[in-house]
Amino acid sequence: MASQKRVLSGIQPTGDIHLGNYFGAVKAWVDMQKEFDCVFGVVDYHAMTMPYKPERLREATWTMTFQLLACGVEPDFLFIQSLVPEHAELAWILGCMTSYGEVTRMTQFKDKSMQVQDKDKDAFISAGLFFYPILQAADILIYKADYVPVGKDQEQHLELTRNIAERFNRQFGKDYFPLPAPYFTQTPKVLSPADPTRKMSKSLGEKHVINLFGEQEKMRKQIRSAVTDTGDTPAGEMSPGVANLFTLLKASGGVDASRLLMDEHVRGTLRYAELKEVVADALGVMMAPIQDRYRDILADKRTWKKRVQEASAHIRDRARETLREVHEITGLGALR
Ligand code: AMP
Ligand code: TRP
Repeated sequence: MASQKRVLSGIQPTGDIHLGNYFGAVKAWVDMQKEFDCVFGVVDYHAMTMPYKPERLREATWTMTFQLLACGVEPDFLFIQSLVPEHAELAWILGCMTSYGEVTRMTQFKDKSMQVQDKDKDAFISAGLFFYPILQAADILIYKADYVPVGKDQEQHLELTRNIAERFNRQFGKDYFPLPAPYFTQTPKVLSPADPTRKMSKSLGEKHVINLFGEQEKMRKQIRSAVTDTGDTPAGEMSPGVANLFTLLKASGGVDASRLLMDEHVRGTLRYAELKEVVADALGVMMAPIQDRYRDILADKRTWKKRVQEASAHIRDRARETLREVHEITGLGALR
């Protein structure tokens, strides 16, 4: 369908999918597949921007791919970024249409470079980390995406992408790139159970993330020990930790249970221990079939790898077509 809106998103292969990734982004990917023309990338070029080991990168790329498949992402819509090297070429071209100043304002760059330097003040900060948001813009624009399902933390990168697309369109006198909009789920920011003043993130450490593919017993322990009282919540209001538990409950399908417990909260009779049991049960029910599918996929890795390699080749054809047009528009590729 020519009028079908296009969707692109990406995730870095830097460990297991956690509940923040799942409820903030990946679940939306799966839901959007029915309605939109979707492509989703495991962005291994992006993963090179932080210190890493080569032998681990390829392994992590496949692990992330298998986990996305287990979550329900269609293999035909999935690609590995480095199997579509046109992304890197478009990033170069877009880099020449991005001002140095606007990249320096990116908070993810500031956060990540501070994070490495906190551990070691002489740590190596690559120019790749600085260029990261431009590569992300290329990921999005190369498929002329209209929507990008991501968590709230990616809002600024999307704004930059729109600015780059607008500048390109203005400079070359064409409405070539659509201006992509972020697409947020009902849960664009899942908080850490151990510190509900911060978002769930791998970079905070183990206890701050609940792994979608981890042991259910471990998940249960993490929910049971989730911080509910941060001490500074005014009487009658809900603390961020409790609100986060309700968020997890609703997102994992416990909408009715959430309503009942919310009534109890209003009446002042809610017992947090009970809330936590209900949340852990709902998460367990949601996780079980995903983990079963993951086990099946791991038992047949070769078949799945081949499917995603083939999908990447098809998706590459689309990327090549965009780049051919971009060469034409920008005066590159002196073939005539
Ligand atoms: P990352 O693991 O940082 O590569 O993130 C992959 C996707 O998950 C991106 O779309 C993020 O915006 C989203 N995401 C990561 N952490 C969270 C969180 N705590 N809450 C909601 N979305 C998140
Ligand atoms: N920067 C994103 C993150 O940290 C990952 C990403 C790379 C991405 N390229 C993308 C997300 C393109 C959406 C679209 O999560």
